[in-house]
Formats: sequence, structure tokens, C-alpha cells
Amino acid sequence: LDFLLTPHLMLAAGTAVIGSLQFGYNTGVINAPQNIIESFYNKTWTGRFSEPISRNTLTALWSLSVAIFSVGGMIGSFSVGLIVTRFGRRNSMLGANVLVVFAAAFMGFSELAASFEMLIIGRFIVGLYCGLSTGFVPMYVEEISPTSLRGALGTLHQLGVVIGILLAQVFGIESIMGNSSLWPLLLGFTLLPAILQCALLPFCPESPRYLLIDCNEESKACSALMKLRGTDEVSEDIQEMREESQKMMMEKKVTIPELFRSPVYRQPILVAIMLQLSQQLSGINAVFYYSTGIFERAGVSQPVYATIGAGVVNTIFTVVSLFIVEHVGRRPLHLIGLMGMAVSAVFLTVAMALLDQLSWMSYVSIVAIFSFVAFFEIGPGPIPWFIVAELFSQGPRPAAVAVAGFCNWSANFLVGMFFQYVEQLCGPFVFIIFTVLLLGFFVFTYFKVPETKGRTFEEISAGFRHSASQGADKYSAPEEFNTLRGHDPDL
Ligand code: GLC
Repeated sequence: LDFLLTPHLMLAAGTAVIGSLQFGYNTGVINAPQNIIESFYNKTWTGRFSEPISRNTLTALWSLSVAIFSVGGMIGSFSVGLIVTRFGRRNSMLGANVLVVFAAAFMGFSELAASFEMLIIGRFIVGLYCGLSTGFVPMYVEEISPTSLRGALGTLHQLGVVIGILLAQVFGIESIMGNSSLWPLLLGFTLLPAILQCALLPFCPESPRYLLIDCNEESKACSALMKLRGTDEVSEDIQEMREESQKMMMEKKVTIPELFRSPVYRQPILVAIMLQLSQQLSGINAVFYYSTGIFERAGVSQPVYATIGAGVVNTIFTVVSLFIVEHVGRRPLHLIGLMGMAVSAVFLTVAMALLDQLSWMSYVSIVAIFSFVAFFEIGPGPIPWFIVAELFSQGPRPAAVAVAGFCNWSANFLVGMFFQYVEQLCGPFVFIIFTVLLLGFFVFTYFKVPETKGRTFEEISAGFRHSASQGADKYSAPEEFNTLRGHDPDL
């Protein structure tokens, strides 16, 4: 396989995932400096109205500053389809960086301008960029990858995210940038990766699938492919794309409502949406937004370092997943991850509930959260992001990626916004809710999610077409896809 991993392919994938890094960075960056930025809000408020801000207003403003990021993400991810079809994959990524420049300026100068509104606007704009990235990056990376490396390279998106989170956690340490004089720099730092990405993108080829299938530019597609594959022998790939393109010409252009109406797409879009929900409603961001508080209540003496520990575990297990996903497959990893998270959540609940009687339970809670995060990154972290692009052929892909991203960000918003309120209601038992959801997603994945490892995009869609023509009730994902291997009735 090594010969497939050419320098051009690595450059292109590496440059694209700078967008994922930005998503992770801006997810993790507001966690550590919360108190410091809150006192800036208070100071600004006092300066304007000559009285200190009330606790309720401050909480509301802070929640808004955190959650408006996901609102930007919802809008951004929903626009992905329109933009990539019009401007292409690479140029869309390039253009989106304008948003980062504005966002960094708004956030970085908010203190100077004594305006928390600017910070909130900046969070919204960077959310827009991150929403776009969660669509652009997996789509581009998978379209340029050879089939046998698609999952491994697809996982790079998540690797970028987790490294971004970890960077933000480390930079947020008080002695680095998480202090009252440097926090604007901590938020404005997001400009640097944007500059790097803009410098590198012009050297990355456009997606050959986009050039051939969407623009009908065969010679450009060929030369992009030759660079990516490091060989002139690309006729097999081109042939496969041509077949996909011919199939597409027989289909009408696929809009979002059609995804839900057409029996051919109903099954894969349901799978795509449920996988996104399984990622967010697993409760992972309850940990990444609020872990410091959770550790504090669990009696951990150095909660900030425990949070960084979670970030490290998060990164390590994403790498593990990257190396095994092409051998073990998507389905088993997703199933193992969901079940492991459910069990970890039970341990966490027990630890939190028994803390008053047994003080060593605080160690159990650390182990439980670390294993919760580790199992997340084995499957539910990386797989939903890249499997959507695999479940659809070129025609419906942009619309599907937009719908899936929108669902992911909406669920992200719900957890970010309401976790603290639900926690106040349920106390130590809050994670039981996630356990129940996780088990539900486990059952769904077991019955409905097909294996996509080692199959071309066209083979995967043919699997769904076949099952749609058989009637949805007879559909059983794993068998159906195994029997289809190699002898596709539609071809
Ligand atoms: C996934 C999720 C993101 C989460 C991250 C944690 O990328 O989409 O919301 O913060 O994993 O590693």
C-alpha cells in the first residue's frame, strides 16, 4: 500500500486537514479561559452601565459565546453542497479562509475595543468556517484517496480535530496563553493555520472526481490523478469514474428534498443521519466542553490536567483507529466504540454516585472518562465524518454531506447548550441518558449500517439500490452487502 501514499497525496490531505485542526481548536479553546474572559465581560459591562453584570446575564452571555459557534456550524455545513458543486473542492477550502481572517480579527481585538459583542460575532464566523470544513475536508480527502486508503485518510480529518483540541487545551494553560493579558491572542491564534493553509492549497490538485464527473474535464482529471497516484497508469481509476459519471447522467440532479423522497437514497441518508447523531448524542462534547467541571465534582484535585489527559487519550486512540480501520472495517469499530462508551458511562455514574462514601472513586471516574473518550475515538469519532461521503455517489454526495453535517452540528448545539441544565436535574445520573442512547445506536448500527471497507463508491451505492428494489423491510445490511460483493446486478 505504501506506494499509494505519494508525496502529492500526503500534501493534499495534510493541507486539507488544517481545516479540521481549526474545528478542533475552536471547539476546545473556550474551555480553560472561561473565568478570565467572563471577568472581561464584567469589566466591559461595568464600564458601560456603571454597575457589575448580574450572574444570570453573565451565564447567558457566556453560553451564547460558546454555543453560537455551533449555530455558525449548522449554517456553514448546510451550505457545503451549493459551494463545492459551484467552485470545486479545493477553491472552496481556499475561499473559506476569508472567514477565519474576519473571525480572528473580531475575537482578537474584542478586548481592545471593549466589546464582548465582537467576540460573540467572531465565534459565530469561525463556526461558519468550521461548519464548511466538516463538509469540505472529508469530501475532498476521500475523493482524492485510492479506495484501499480511503478510511485511513478519512480518519485524518478526526486526527486534525483532536490535535486541534489538544493544542487549544495546552495553549490555554495559565502560564502559556490562558491568562488575563494573552487570552485575545489565544483566540486570535486561529489566523496562523489559515495562513498556512492558504499558502499550501495552490500546490494541491483539485479533486479528479470533481473535474471529471462534475466538470467533464477528462484531461485535467487525468493530470490531477497522475500527480496524486505518482504514476501515469491511471486508466483504471478514470474508468471507474467514467462509470460513475454515466450512472449519474441517468439520474436527475439530486437536491436535498430528493434525498428523502427517492427510495434509492432513503436508506443511506437515514444511516448517515443516525451515525452523526450517534457521534454527538454519545455525550462526547459533554466531556470536551465541561470536563473540568465534571472532574471537579468528581473530586479530582487537578481538573485542568485531567482535562489535558483526556485530550491526550483522545489523540492516541484516534491514531489507533487510523491504523486499524482498513483492516477491521467500519462496522465492527463503530459497534465496539459505542458499546465501550456505554459501559464506561455506567462506571462513571457508579463512581459519581458513590463518591461521598468512597473517596477513591474519583480515580475510577478519571479512568471511566478516559476510557469513554478512548472508545469514542475507536469508531464513533472518526467514522461518521468520513462514512457519509462513502455512502453516496458523486451526484447526491454534496447534498448528503450537507444534511449529515447539519444534523451533527444541531446535536452538538443541543448537548453544548443543555448538558449543564440536565446535569443540574439528574446529578450523578446524567450519563445514564447517554448510556441509553448509546445502546439504541448500537442496535441501529448492528442492523442497518453496511460495511464500506474496500468497496468503490459505485459498489456501495449499488448495494443500496439493490436493497431499495428488494423493499426496505427485507433489508439486512451485512448479508446484503456480502452477497453483492463482486456480482452487482445493476452493473
Ligand atoms: C468529533 C466531533 C466533535 C468532537 C470531537 C472530539 O470530531 O464531531 O464534536 O468535539 O470529535 O474529539
